[in-house]
Amino acid sequence: MQNTMLQTQVDSVPNGVAKPRTFHIMTFGCQMNLADSSTLSSTLTTRGYKRVENEADADLIILNTCAIREKAEQRVYGRLGDLYRYKKHRPSLKVAVVGCMAQRLGDDLIKRVPHVDYVLGTDRLFELPDVIEGVEGTSSVMTAFGHENMDLIAPIKESPWSGFVTISRGCDNYCTYCIVPYVRGKEREHSAQYIVDAVKKMVDEGVVEVTLLGQNVNSYKYDDVDFPRLLQRVAGETGIRRIRYMTSHPKDLSKRLVDLMADEPRIMPHIHLPLQSGSNRVLEVMGRIYSREHYLKIVDYIHKRLPYVVLSTDLIVGYPTETEEEFQQTLDVVRSVQFDFAFMFRYSSRPGTIAAKMPDDVPEDAKLERLNRLIELQQGISYDRNQREIGRVAWGVIEGRSRRDANLWRARTEGSKTVLFSSETAQPGEVVPVCVSAADAFTLHGNIERVN
Ligand code: 5AD
Ligand code: SF4
Repeated sequence: MQNTMLQTQVDSVPNGVAKPRTFHIMTFGCQMNLADSSTLSSTLTTRGYKRVENEADADLIILNTCAIREKAEQRVYGRLGDLYRYKKHRPSLKVAVVGCMAQRLGDDLIKRVPHVDYVLGTDRLFELPDVIEGVEGTSSVMTAFGHENMDLIAPIKESPWSGFVTISRGCDNYCTYCIVPYVRGKEREHSAQYIVDAVKKMVDEGVVEVTLLGQNVNSYKYDDVDFPRLLQRVAGETGIRRIRYMTSHPKDLSKRLVDLMADEPRIMPHIHLPLQSGSNRVLEVMGRIYSREHYLKIVDYIHKRLPYVVLSTDLIVGYPTETEEEFQQTLDVVRSVQFDFAFMFRYSSRPGTIAAKMPDDVPEDAKLERLNRLIELQQGISYDRNQREIGRVAWGVIEGRSRRDANLWRARTEGSKTVLFSSETAQPGEVVPVCVSAADAFTLHGNIERVN
């Protein structure tokens, strides 16, 4: 057992403020936040702080937050409530709230939760060590944009064999319900050369699968390199075995991209293409800039060029003014596209967005009831889609043991599905052929063909 008392001792910095020596970081939300947490963690480590997995051992607890829906913020408030009790016993404990919710609320967060010590927005979170040490010009609440150093937005390894490279940050789309453009700012990109070099370096270190991240990767443009060209360069110049990307926008996903995916086996056949709604009127008021017909046309093309593609989507029910008939149009499109899986949400009003000015007029129980009907429909479709994989040999990257059954191994297929299998010789990070023998709505089961 480690001595917690020893570990939570604090140093003094020149201005007399107690300097924490150990930190614990909790991440809420999307892959972008995971990537930011990893960067923040290495920034702090470089500055002499030690990361600890157990929050009881930490002098500084960092919550890297999400603001996408109210529920995400409630979760953070819940954790802050726990930390209040904690801090009463250990007044030297410092609490930092960083990222999207910090950006959205700024000073209001400290007013509402006075035991929070530091609030740093999405462009400022990497300055946390300076703020803790009271470097001149820093303050405990910092949310101004325009301070980001893109060089800090470094690629991260999720494991020795898989990595994430942020190709762009921010979003210029301003979908009317979405807080992201306000909390993450305007879209800005890394150069293609930076991305190619980052992937090459990961390959040298043993990475086999890389995911290119951006709020809307399809609008990537740096000098004369657009997203298909970028993918082509990554596939052609780095030696990486498997490439994924997230997230797409139906208004920007081009036929050229689909054609490239058909011709380039290193790009994994998974497309996450948020539909949001199947009603043209709702899509218009959401500011999505495409129609249901346009969406269906892209999907037709994708299916024609990529017969084994896995398609997934995001859907929102109960957007202000959405009628039952309009919701049924979403069900119709879901039936017609047959998504492999979907992330489904109840509309959540986000202060500051365009939609928040409209009355949130679909009653909560109607939203919930629509969501349940949608989930039920999608589960049946996911089940059917997974049944179609039976008999196929899926090439999966082994990620570790199954979370439910430690006797089984878990791998991620080309289409980003989880396949479970047993093996005496499997090693995490290996790419193995698994013959799919059974499936439910969530998971595939199979037998390893041979270990390469
Ligand atoms: N309410 C509900 N869902 C939302 N999303 C974004 N903003 C909201 C909101 N205000 C969903 C969208 C998006 C996904 C990341 O989160 O479906 O694609
Ligand atoms: Fe939000 Fe729309 Fe940008 Fe996606 S594309 S992050 S939904 S504003």
